[in-house]
Amino acid sequence: MRKPIIAGNWKMNNTIKQGESLVSDILGKDLSRDVEVVICVPFTFLDRASKLVTGTQIKLGAQNMHWEEKGAYTGEISPVMLNEIKVEYVIIGHSERRQYFNETDETVNKKIKSALTYNLTPIVCVGESLEERENGKYKELIESQVTKAFEGITKEDAVKTVIAYEPIWAIGTGKTASSEQAEEICALIRSILEKLYDADTSQKIRVLYGGSVKPDNIKELMNMENIDGALVGGASLKANDFVQLVNYKL
Ligand code: G3P
Repeated sequence: MRKPIIAGNWKMNNTIKQGESLVSDILGKDLSRDVEVVICVPFTFLDRASKLVTGTQIKLGAQNMHWEEKGAYTGEISPVMLNEIKVEYVIIGHSERRQYFNETDETVNKKIKSALTYNLTPIVCVGESLEERENGKYKELIESQVTKAFEGITKEDAVKTVIAYEPIWAIGTGKTASSEQAEEICALIRSILEKLYDADTSQKIRVLYGGSVKPDNIKELMNMENIDGALVGGASLKANDFVQLVNYKL
């Protein structure tokens, strides 16, 4: 069975001091053992966070990385650097990176391959804009994003990845996709994976939903057959909210 994941994406929030206090608040509460708990924090906090979460249930993720191991890439962070500080997850292709930092399907594909080479679990983000949703082209868009992201990736590697469906119109807007809308696309993603690989592979890959996930909508989302967890922005910045998401079953 697919183990649920609740992953916090802190985005560009929290200084080291603020991060320490948020992590200690989260660790001060009981966390459901049935859920994989991940926090994706800013680069400046990763090393410190790594020490704080060692031996706890919380796993650590980065929000981006370069695909090369090292070299003349000013301002970038490599997978080797993430390995060194025991980061286990990395968000790849978040819509904010696609939108503001020229992330393309091609760089997303390179980064996923590189993450897998360095034993990092990529959380691969896909999702449509409001315009794409309204003009009815969103399913083709998702199919194209998923297909290009997984180009040249074997099924043995594909099962090590996590996919997050994040409709751009639902991110940080307070406007969540309804659980039916989220389920429709998460199911579509699974059927695309089945086409690319096979049914068994598609059943093993975890598909998350992201976009204004809050304690009051998590249960409904998690009741959906093809939603295996959430990638959470705003609500991951408050210990109480984040812990409620992790403990959605309780
Ligand atoms: O990656 C998480 C994200 O983009 C959703 O953000 O603030 O709507 O939960 P938010």
